Amino acid sequence: MQDTSKNFSTLAIHHGYDAQQNQGALTPPIHLTSTFAFETAEAGGEMFAGERDGHFYSRISNPTLDILEQRIAALEGTEAGLALASGIGAISSVMWTLLSPGDEIIADKTLYGCTFSFLNHGLAKFGIKVTQVDLSNHELLAEAISSKTKVVYFETPANPNMRLVDIEAVSKIAHKHDVKVVVDNTYATPYLTQPIKLGADLVVHSATKYLGGHGDLVAGLIAGPKEIISEIRLYGMKDMTGACMAPFNAMLVMRGMKTLELRMDRHCQSAMRVAKMLEANPIVESVCYPGLESFEQFELAKKQMSDFGGMITFEVKGGIQTGIKMMNKLKMIQRAVSLGDAETLIQHPASMTHSTYTPEERLEHGISDGLIRLSVGLEGIEDILDDLQQALNTLSAESLLSSVVESAS
Ligand SMILES: Cc1ncc(COP(=O)(O)O)c(C=O)c1O
Repeated sequence: MQDTSKNFSTLAIHHGYDAQQNQGALTPPIHLTSTFAFETAEAGGEMFAGERDGHFYSRISNPTLDILEQRIAALEGTEAGLALASGIGAISSVMWTLLSPGDEIIADKTLYGCTFSFLNHGLAKFGIKVTQVDLSNHELLAEAISSKTKVVYFETPANPNMRLVDIEAVSKIAHKHDVKVVVDNTYATPYLTQPIKLGADLVVHSATKYLGGHGDLVAGLIAGPKEIISEIRLYGMKDMTGACMAPFNAMLVMRGMKTLELRMDRHCQSAMRVAKMLEANPIVESVCYPGLESFEQFELAKKQMSDFGGMITFEVKGGIQTGIKMMNKLKMIQRAVSLGDAETLIQHPASMTHSTYTPEERLEHGISDGLIRLSVGLEGIEDILDDLQQALNTLSAESLLSSVVESAS
């Protein structure tokens, strides 16, 4: 089924696969093979020379991955996709393809910890200048672009502090200078935002998160125009990172993607209830959720996202010491990094996912030490709310007690 005008879930379930071409197997076969036999020696040579289509080695392409690649391209509304071993495998394969020594990349101020590290400790080591600016300030972006700038890179919403970047506005500025725009769409997924339709050139994903959706794999995806995807496949992935996806993981990602729409609807509904509950709790200092009217970029969220996602950050009064106490009081919610799973997960970016930043860098990049990140899962909403509420209640009781002790002494 190659008709990309179908509904989101229809594409996620059917696109790129014809059971009748596969002995009627409803689910795509997993092609567990590293190499492919050539009909003739000449045919092999022609494939290597790019003169004949076909698979010849699974670090470059594989029929199971092929279906997933077509599916992510259809869901992102673009021509081609590429499946990789991890989100960082995807990001690094893109960068090694688009950038050379002497080039410059402009990235947003807030990035996932290992992306920050790859850019600042990886690319920078190989003669690529990395500049991080607040991409919500378009004047700063325009000032930062030079004749050497090749890429503008950002996450929206950003991990961990939920800041948004206006994809359409940033793409217009970048394209005036012939600069490519790469968006990490892990948090929103193509169900909530399709960056390429808003002007971006490439999308990258940690498919470990919502696309896989079940916390049982590590995977990455890229989507964009055929020509660039082919370059990334044959250079960034094949020669530089070697970060190809295992066929078994491709099957798991496709299985997850079949229910992406249903799961995202539930993540969004539940996250909105949790965000409102947190906002109303006096022990909570601040809450960041794009669906709250108090969210600084609420207007942009409404313009750019069809719903507001499953991720929330918040701070409790008393800073991180109180925050850690609260995390330790949780009974059902799991203290774990990663996100987008069926299980609700809570973590502390400063000591966990963003510990690749120095304390000074975190301060400079707007990642406060008290920030707690919550990935709202698919459990019954009452159970999620109850668990958070009982943990927050213990803090309220403790702080009441300490204020009584203080006033008595
Ligand atoms: C926004 C974002 N991008 C990229 C990554 C890296 O993905 P992976 O862990 O699959 O390499 C993560 C991981 O947490 C992430 O949150």
